[in-house]
Amino acid sequence: RFYSVIPAGGIGSRLWPLSRADAPKFLHDLTGSGQTLLRDTWDRLVPLSGEQRIMVVTGRAHRAAVEKQLPELADPNVVLESEPKDSTAAIGLAAAILVRREPDVVIGSFAADHVIKDKRGFRRSVIEAVAVAEAGYIATIGITPNEPAVGFGYIHTRGELEVDGAPNALFVDSFVEKPDLKTAEKYVKSGDYLWNAGMFISRADVLLEQIGKAKPELLAGLLELAAAWDTPERGAVVDKVWPVLEKIAIDYTVAEPAAKAGRLAVIPGDFDWDDVGDFASIGKLHSGGRKKDLAILGEHARVLADSSSGVVISQTGRLISLIGVTDIVVVDTADALLVTTTANAQRVKSVVDALKLSG
Ligand code: GDD
Ligand code: MG
Repeated sequence: RFYSVIPAGGIGSRLWPLSRADAPKFLHDLTGSGQTLLRDTWDRLVPLSGEQRIMVVTGRAHRAAVEKQLPELADPNVVLESEPKDSTAAIGLAAAILVRREPDVVIGSFAADHVIKDKRGFRRSVIEAVAVAEAGYIATIGITPNEPAVGFGYIHTRGELEVDGAPNALFVDSFVEKPDLKTAEKYVKSGDYLWNAGMFISRADVLLEQIGKAKPELLAGLLELAAAWDTPERGAVVDKVWPVLEKIAIDYTVAEPAAKAGRLAVIPGDFDWDDVGDFASIGKLHSGGRKKDLAILGEHARVLADSSSGVVISQTGRLISLIGVTDIVVVDTADALLVTTTANAQRVKSVVDALKLSG
Protein backbone atom coordinates (compact mmCIF):
# COMPACT_ATOMS: atom_id res chain seq x y z
CA ARG A 1 0.00 0.00 0.00
CA PHE A 2 2.99 2.30 0.42
CA TYR A 3 4.11 4.76 -2.24
CA SER A 4 7.10 7.12 -2.04
CA VAL A 5 6.97 10.65 -3.42
CA ILE A 6 10.08 12.75 -4.04
CA PRO A 7 9.35 16.46 -4.49
CA ALA A 8 12.43 17.76 -6.26
CA GLY A 9 12.05 21.46 -6.78
CA GLY A 10 13.97 23.64 -4.38
CA ILE A 11 16.94 25.55 -5.78
CA GLY A 12 19.09 25.51 -2.65
CA SER A 13 20.10 29.16 -2.89
CA ARG A 14 22.48 28.95 0.09
CA LEU A 15 24.63 26.75 -2.14
CA TRP A 16 25.13 29.30 -4.93
CA PRO A 17 27.08 29.28 -7.28
CA LEU A 18 27.15 25.49 -7.15
CA SER A 19 23.39 25.16 -6.98
CA ARG A 20 21.46 27.10 -9.65
CA ALA A 21 17.99 27.17 -11.08
CA ASP A 22 19.29 24.97 -13.91
CA ALA A 23 21.46 22.80 -11.63
CA PRO A 24 19.59 22.56 -8.31
CA LYS A 25 21.03 21.04 -5.17
CA PHE A 26 19.48 17.60 -5.69
CA LEU A 27 21.41 17.17 -8.95
CA HIS A 28 24.78 17.49 -7.21
CA ASP A 29 27.00 15.01 -5.44
CA LEU A 30 27.63 16.73 -2.12
CA THR A 31 28.76 13.68 -0.19
CA GLY A 32 31.57 12.50 -2.42
CA SER A 33 29.67 9.24 -2.96
CA GLY A 34 29.88 9.71 -6.72
CA GLN A 35 26.08 9.98 -6.84
CA THR A 36 23.71 12.92 -6.83
CA LEU A 37 21.55 13.53 -3.75
CA LEU A 38 18.50 12.63 -5.85
CA ARG A 39 19.97 9.24 -6.72
CA ASP A 40 20.89 8.66 -3.05
CA THR A 41 17.29 9.47 -2.10
CA TRP A 42 15.96 7.04 -4.69
CA ASP A 43 18.29 4.25 -3.48
CA ARG A 44 17.13 4.83 0.08
CA LEU A 45 13.48 4.48 -0.91
CA VAL A 46 13.65 1.45 -3.22
CA PRO A 47 13.80 -1.08 -0.33
CA LEU A 48 10.72 0.59 1.21
CA SER A 49 8.38 0.89 -1.74
CA GLY A 50 10.01 -0.84 -4.71
CA GLU A 51 11.19 1.10 -7.77
CA GLN A 52 7.77 0.87 -9.46
CA ARG A 53 6.19 2.79 -6.56
CA ILE A 54 8.27 5.97 -6.39
CA MET A 55 6.82 9.18 -7.88
CA VAL A 56 9.02 12.18 -8.63
CA VAL A 57 7.53 15.67 -8.88
CA THR A 58 9.88 18.13 -10.54
CA GLY A 59 10.09 21.08 -12.92
CA ARG A 60 9.74 20.53 -16.66
CA ALA A 61 13.21 21.98 -17.06
CA HIS A 62 14.74 19.19 -14.94
CA ARG A 63 13.06 16.32 -16.74
CA ALA A 64 16.07 15.14 -18.76
CA ALA A 65 18.48 15.40 -15.84
CA VAL A 66 16.10 13.56 -13.50
CA GLU A 67 15.47 10.76 -16.00
CA LYS A 68 19.20 10.39 -16.55
CA GLN A 69 19.72 10.00 -12.80
CA LEU A 70 16.80 7.61 -12.46
CA PRO A 71 16.55 5.42 -15.57
CA GLU A 72 14.23 3.04 -13.67
CA LEU A 73 11.66 5.78 -13.02
CA ALA A 74 8.40 4.68 -14.67
CA ASP A 75 6.65 7.17 -16.97
CA PRO A 76 3.38 7.35 -15.00
CA ASN A 77 5.47 8.24 -11.96
CA VAL A 78 6.96 11.42 -13.45
CA VAL A 79 4.98 14.54 -12.60
CA LEU A 80 6.25 17.69 -14.32
CA GLU A 81 5.48 21.22 -13.20
CA SER A 82 5.40 24.18 -15.56
CA GLU A 83 6.56 26.44 -12.72
CA PRO A 84 7.37 25.85 -9.06
CA LYS A 85 4.39 26.19 -6.72
CA ASP A 86 6.09 24.96 -3.55
CA SER A 87 5.55 21.76 -1.62
CA THR A 88 1.78 21.78 -0.99
CA ALA A 89 1.12 21.72 -4.73
CA ALA A 90 3.93 19.26 -5.49
CA ILE A 91 3.05 16.72 -2.80
CA GLY A 92 -0.70 17.39 -2.96
CA LEU A 93 -0.80 16.72 -6.70
CA ALA A 94 1.06 13.45 -6.22
CA ALA A 95 -1.45 12.47 -3.51
CA ALA A 96 -4.42 13.42 -5.70
CA ILE A 97 -3.10 11.43 -8.68
CA LEU A 98 -2.21 8.37 -6.60
CA VAL A 99 -5.47 8.23 -4.64
CA ARG A 100 -7.39 7.98 -7.93
CA ARG A 101 -5.23 5.05 -8.98
CA GLU A 102 -5.33 3.41 -5.53
CA PRO A 103 -7.92 4.73 -3.02
CA ASP A 104 -6.31 3.47 0.19
CA VAL A 105 -2.72 4.32 -0.73
CA VAL A 106 -0.35 5.52 2.01
CA ILE A 107 2.23 7.98 0.73
CA GLY A 108 5.48 9.21 2.17
CA SER A 109 7.09 12.36 0.80
CA PHE A 110 10.85 12.68 1.15
CA ALA A 111 12.99 15.66 0.28
CA ALA A 112 15.30 15.01 -2.67
CA ASP A 113 18.30 16.76 -1.18
CA HIS A 114 19.11 15.39 2.27
CA VAL A 115 22.00 13.24 3.42
CA ILE A 116 21.27 10.14 5.51
CA LYS A 117 23.99 7.56 5.99
CA ASP A 118 22.21 5.05 8.24
CA LYS A 119 19.80 3.58 5.70
CA ARG A 120 18.55 0.84 8.03
CA GLY A 121 17.75 3.30 10.80
CA PHE A 122 15.93 5.46 8.26
CA ARG A 123 13.86 2.49 7.11
CA ARG A 124 12.98 1.49 10.68
CA SER A 125 11.61 4.97 11.35
CA VAL A 126 9.63 5.11 8.10
CA ILE A 127 8.10 1.69 8.74
CA GLU A 128 6.83 2.96 12.10
CA ALA A 129 5.53 6.10 10.41
CA VAL A 130 3.58 3.97 7.93
CA ALA A 131 1.91 2.12 10.81
CA VAL A 132 0.92 5.48 12.32
CA ALA A 133 -0.38 6.65 8.92
CA GLU A 134 -2.53 3.55 8.58
CA ALA A 135 -4.13 4.50 11.89
CA GLY A 136 -5.25 7.78 10.28
CA TYR A 137 -2.57 10.16 11.49
CA ILE A 138 -0.17 12.31 9.51
CA ALA A 139 3.28 11.18 10.59
CA THR A 140 6.48 13.19 10.58
CA ILE A 141 10.03 12.19 11.44
CA GLY A 142 11.76 14.21 14.17
CA ILE A 143 15.44 14.98 14.63
CA THR A 144 17.03 16.04 17.91
CA PRO A 145 18.12 19.66 17.38
CA ASN A 146 21.71 20.69 18.10
CA GLU A 147 21.46 24.43 17.31
CA PRO A 148 18.70 27.06 17.03
CA ALA A 149 18.44 26.80 13.25
CA VAL A 150 15.70 29.02 11.84
CA GLY A 151 15.24 27.11 8.58
CA PHE A 152 13.41 24.17 10.11
CA GLY A 153 10.02 23.24 11.49
CA TYR A 154 9.88 22.62 15.25
CA ILE A 155 7.74 19.84 16.69
CA HIS A 156 6.47 19.79 20.27
CA THR A 157 5.30 16.42 21.56
CA ARG A 158 2.82 15.35 24.19
CA GLY A 159 3.11 11.76 25.32
CA GLU A 160 3.17 8.46 23.53
CA LEU A 161 0.82 7.44 20.78
CA GLU A 162 -0.57 3.93 21.09
CA VAL A 163 -0.31 2.38 17.63
CA ASP A 164 0.60 -1.23 16.85
CA GLY A 165 3.92 -1.47 15.04
CA ALA A 166 5.05 2.00 16.12
CA PRO A 167 6.58 1.70 19.60
CA ASN A 168 8.35 5.08 19.33
CA ALA A 169 5.46 7.17 18.02
CA LEU A 170 4.66 10.38 19.88
CA PHE A 171 1.62 12.61 19.76
CA VAL A 172 2.35 16.11 18.44
CA ASP A 173 0.61 19.07 20.08
CA SER A 174 2.22 21.85 18.10
CA PHE A 175 4.24 22.42 14.96
CA VAL A 176 5.94 25.75 14.24
CA GLU A 177 7.50 26.26 10.82
CA LYS A 178 10.66 28.40 10.66
CA PRO A 179 10.42 30.31 13.96
CA ASP A 180 12.50 33.45 14.49
CA LEU A 181 15.89 33.07 16.16
CA LYS A 182 14.70 34.00 19.66
CA THR A 183 11.90 31.47 19.54
CA ALA A 184 14.20 28.79 18.10
CA GLU A 185 16.70 29.43 20.92
CA LYS A 186 13.94 29.03 23.50
CA TYR A 187 12.75 25.79 21.88
CA VAL A 188 16.20 24.21 21.70
CA LYS A 189 17.01 25.22 25.27
CA SER A 190 13.80 23.67 26.59
CA GLY A 191 14.80 20.27 25.19
CA ASP A 192 11.13 19.57 24.40
CA TYR A 193 11.27 20.06 20.64
CA LEU A 194 12.34 18.07 17.62
CA TRP A 195 13.24 19.36 14.17
CA ASN A 196 10.97 18.33 11.36
CA ALA A 197 13.04 16.21 8.97
CA GLY A 198 10.87 17.24 6.00
CA MET A 199 9.14 13.88 5.57
CA PHE A 200 5.37 13.43 5.71
CA ILE A 201 3.77 9.99 5.79
CA SER A 202 0.00 9.62 5.66
CA ARG A 203 -2.92 8.15 3.78
CA ALA A 204 -3.26 10.20 0.59
CA ASP A 205 -6.94 10.89 1.34
CA VAL A 206 -6.08 12.14 4.84
CA LEU A 207 -3.44 14.49 3.45
CA LEU A 208 -5.84 15.90 0.85
CA GLU A 209 -8.56 16.38 3.46
CA GLN A 210 -6.10 18.39 5.56
CA ILE A 211 -5.05 20.54 2.59
CA GLY A 212 -8.73 21.17 1.85
CA LYS A 213 -9.41 22.40 5.38
CA ALA A 214 -6.62 24.97 5.17
CA LYS A 215 -6.83 25.83 1.47
CA PRO A 216 -10.10 24.73 -0.21
CA GLU A 217 -9.29 26.46 -3.52
CA LEU A 218 -5.86 24.89 -3.71
CA LEU A 219 -7.38 21.47 -3.08
CA ALA A 220 -10.01 22.05 -5.76
CA GLY A 221 -7.25 22.90 -8.24
CA LEU A 222 -5.25 19.81 -7.33
CA LEU A 223 -8.31 17.55 -7.69
CA GLU A 224 -9.12 19.07 -11.07
CA LEU A 225 -5.55 18.45 -12.24
CA ALA A 226 -5.57 14.88 -10.95
CA ALA A 227 -8.90 14.09 -12.62
CA ALA A 228 -7.41 15.09 -15.97
CA TRP A 229 -3.93 13.70 -15.33
CA ASP A 230 -4.26 10.29 -16.95
CA THR A 231 -6.42 11.64 -19.81
CA PRO A 232 -5.80 13.59 -23.04
CA GLU A 233 -7.14 16.73 -21.28
CA ARG A 234 -4.08 16.98 -19.06
CA GLY A 235 -2.29 19.70 -21.03
CA ALA A 236 -5.29 22.01 -21.25
CA VAL A 237 -6.16 21.64 -17.56
CA VAL A 238 -2.54 22.19 -16.51
CA ASP A 239 -2.39 25.39 -18.58
CA LYS A 240 -5.57 26.64 -16.93
CA VAL A 241 -5.09 25.54 -13.30
CA TRP A 242 -1.34 25.47 -12.60
CA PRO A 243 -0.64 29.22 -12.97
CA VAL A 244 -3.29 30.17 -10.40
CA LEU A 245 -2.41 27.56 -7.73
CA GLU A 246 -1.36 29.15 -4.45
CA LYS A 247 2.37 28.84 -3.77
CA ILE A 248 2.75 27.69 -0.16
CA ALA A 249 4.77 25.12 1.76
CA ILE A 250 3.09 22.00 3.13
CA ASP A 251 4.39 22.82 6.60
CA TYR A 252 1.82 25.66 6.77
CA THR A 253 -1.10 23.97 5.03
CA VAL A 254 -0.77 20.52 6.61
CA ALA A 255 1.71 20.23 9.50
CA GLU A 256 0.73 23.29 11.55
CA PRO A 257 -3.06 22.84 11.27
CA ALA A 258 -2.89 19.03 11.66
CA ALA A 259 -0.99 19.50 14.94
CA LYS A 260 -3.71 21.88 16.16
CA ALA A 261 -6.36 19.35 15.18
CA GLY A 262 -4.60 16.52 17.05
CA ARG A 263 -3.86 14.55 13.87
CA LEU A 264 -0.09 14.90 13.72
CA ALA A 265 2.36 12.31 15.05
CA VAL A 266 6.13 12.08 15.08
CA ILE A 267 8.61 9.23 15.06
CA PRO A 268 11.87 10.45 16.60
CA GLY A 269 14.39 9.55 13.90
CA ASP A 270 16.74 6.74 14.79
CA PHE A 271 19.40 7.78 12.24
CA ASP A 272 21.81 10.55 11.23
CA TRP A 273 20.31 13.35 9.15
CA ASP A 274 21.74 16.39 7.43
CA ASP A 275 19.90 18.75 5.12
CA VAL A 276 23.24 20.19 3.87
CA GLY A 277 21.75 23.64 3.81
CA ASP A 278 25.00 25.59 3.30
CA PHE A 279 28.71 25.24 2.56
CA ALA A 280 29.64 25.00 6.24
CA SER A 281 27.59 21.82 6.54
CA ILE A 282 29.25 20.41 3.42
CA GLY A 283 32.59 21.09 5.09
CA LYS A 284 31.48 19.26 8.24
CA LEU A 285 30.21 16.35 6.20
CA HIS A 286 33.65 15.93 4.69
CA SER A 287 35.92 16.56 7.63
CA GLY A 288 38.01 13.46 7.94
CA GLY A 289 37.89 13.21 4.15
CA ARG A 290 40.81 13.61 1.78
CA LYS A 291 42.67 16.15 3.86
CA LYS A 292 42.18 16.88 7.51
CA ASP A 293 40.19 20.05 8.13
CA LEU A 294 40.13 21.08 4.48
CA ALA A 295 37.38 19.42 2.51
CA ILE A 296 38.06 19.36 -1.23
CA LEU A 297 35.26 18.50 -3.62
CA GLY A 298 35.19 18.26 -7.37
CA GLU A 299 36.32 15.51 -9.69
CA HIS A 300 39.04 17.66 -11.27
CA ALA A 301 39.88 19.81 -8.26
CA ARG A 302 43.52 20.90 -8.02
CA VAL A 303 44.25 22.51 -4.68
CA LEU A 304 47.52 23.54 -3.08
CA ALA A 305 46.93 24.31 0.57
CA ASP A 306 49.28 25.38 3.31
CA SER A 307 47.95 25.72 6.88
CA SER A 308 44.41 26.28 5.66
CA SER A 309 41.04 24.86 6.65
CA GLY A 310 37.47 24.98 5.42
CA VAL A 311 35.99 23.76 2.17
CA VAL A 312 36.96 24.10 -1.49
CA ILE A 313 34.62 23.09 -4.28
CA SER A 314 35.99 23.21 -7.79
CA GLN A 315 34.08 22.62 -10.99
CA THR A 316 36.74 24.09 -13.23
CA GLY A 317 39.94 22.25 -12.42
CA ARG A 318 41.70 25.63 -12.19
CA LEU A 319 44.58 25.51 -9.72
CA ILE A 320 43.47 26.93 -6.37
CA SER A 321 46.09 27.88 -3.86
CA LEU A 322 45.38 28.63 -0.20
CA ILE A 323 47.93 29.91 2.29
CA GLY A 324 47.17 30.44 5.94
CA VAL A 325 43.42 30.93 5.65
CA THR A 326 41.16 29.24 8.16
CA ASP A 327 37.51 28.23 7.84
CA ILE A 328 37.51 29.49 4.27
CA VAL A 329 34.86 28.64 1.68
CA VAL A 330 35.91 28.74 -1.98
CA VAL A 331 33.51 27.68 -4.69
CA ASP A 332 34.90 27.93 -8.21
CA THR A 333 32.51 27.47 -11.13
CA ALA A 334 32.86 28.38 -14.81
CA ASP A 335 31.19 31.78 -14.53
CA ALA A 336 31.16 32.66 -10.83
CA LEU A 337 33.54 32.46 -7.89
CA LEU A 338 32.40 32.59 -4.27
CA VAL A 339 34.79 33.31 -1.42
CA THR A 340 33.47 33.48 2.14
CA THR A 341 33.98 31.79 5.50
CA THR A 342 32.10 28.93 7.10
CA ALA A 343 30.70 31.32 9.73
CA ASN A 344 29.10 33.40 6.98
CA ALA A 345 27.85 30.50 4.90
CA GLN A 346 24.18 31.17 5.68
CA ARG A 347 24.48 34.65 4.16
CA VAL A 348 25.06 33.29 0.66
CA LYS A 349 21.30 33.37 0.14
CA SER A 350 21.34 37.18 0.31
CA VAL A 351 23.78 37.32 -2.63
CA VAL A 352 21.38 35.26 -4.67
CA ASP A 353 18.46 37.48 -3.65
CA ALA A 354 20.49 40.55 -4.67
CA LEU A 355 21.38 38.96 -8.03
CA LYS A 356 17.70 38.22 -8.65
CA LEU A 357 16.80 41.85 -7.92
CA SER A 358 19.45 43.16 -10.28
CA GLY A 359 18.01 40.83 -12.91
N1 GDD B 1 8.49 19.65 -7.15
C1 GDD B 1 8.65 20.65 -6.30
N2 GDD B 1 8.17 21.88 -6.63
N3 GDD B 1 9.27 20.43 -5.14
C2 GDD B 1 9.43 21.47 -4.29
C3 GDD B 1 8.96 22.76 -4.57
C4 GDD B 1 8.29 22.96 -5.81
O1 GDD B 1 7.85 24.07 -6.16
N4 GDD B 1 9.29 23.57 -3.52
C5 GDD B 1 9.92 22.79 -2.63
N5 GDD B 1 10.01 21.51 -3.09
C6 GDD B 1 10.64 20.36 -2.46
C7 GDD B 1 12.12 20.55 -2.22
O2 GDD B 1 12.88 20.12 -3.34
C8 GDD B 1 12.34 19.66 -1.02
O3 GDD B 1 12.52 18.33 -1.44
C9 GDD B 1 11.01 19.77 -0.24
O4 GDD B 1 10.03 20.15 -1.21
C10 GDD B 1 11.05 20.79 0.90
O5 GDD B 1 11.23 22.08 0.36
P1 GDD B 1 12.38 23.07 0.85
O6 GDD B 1 12.23 24.33 0.08
O7 GDD B 1 13.70 22.39 0.83
O8 GDD B 1 11.89 23.34 2.33
P2 GDD B 1 12.79 23.81 3.56
O9 GDD B 1 14.10 23.12 3.57
O10 GDD B 1 12.81 25.30 3.57
O11 GDD B 1 11.91 23.34 4.83
C11 GDD B 1 11.37 22.02 4.89
O12 GDD B 1 12.37 21.07 5.20
C12 GDD B 1 13.00 21.23 6.50
C13 GDD B 1 14.01 20.11 6.67
O13 GDD B 1 15.00 20.21 5.72
C14 GDD B 1 10.28 22.05 5.97
O14 GDD B 1 9.56 20.83 5.89
C15 GDD B 1 10.86 22.21 7.37
O15 GDD B 1 9.85 22.07 8.35
C16 GDD B 1 11.93 21.16 7.60
O16 GDD B 1 12.51 21.32 8.90
MG1 MG C 1 15.19 22.00 2.23
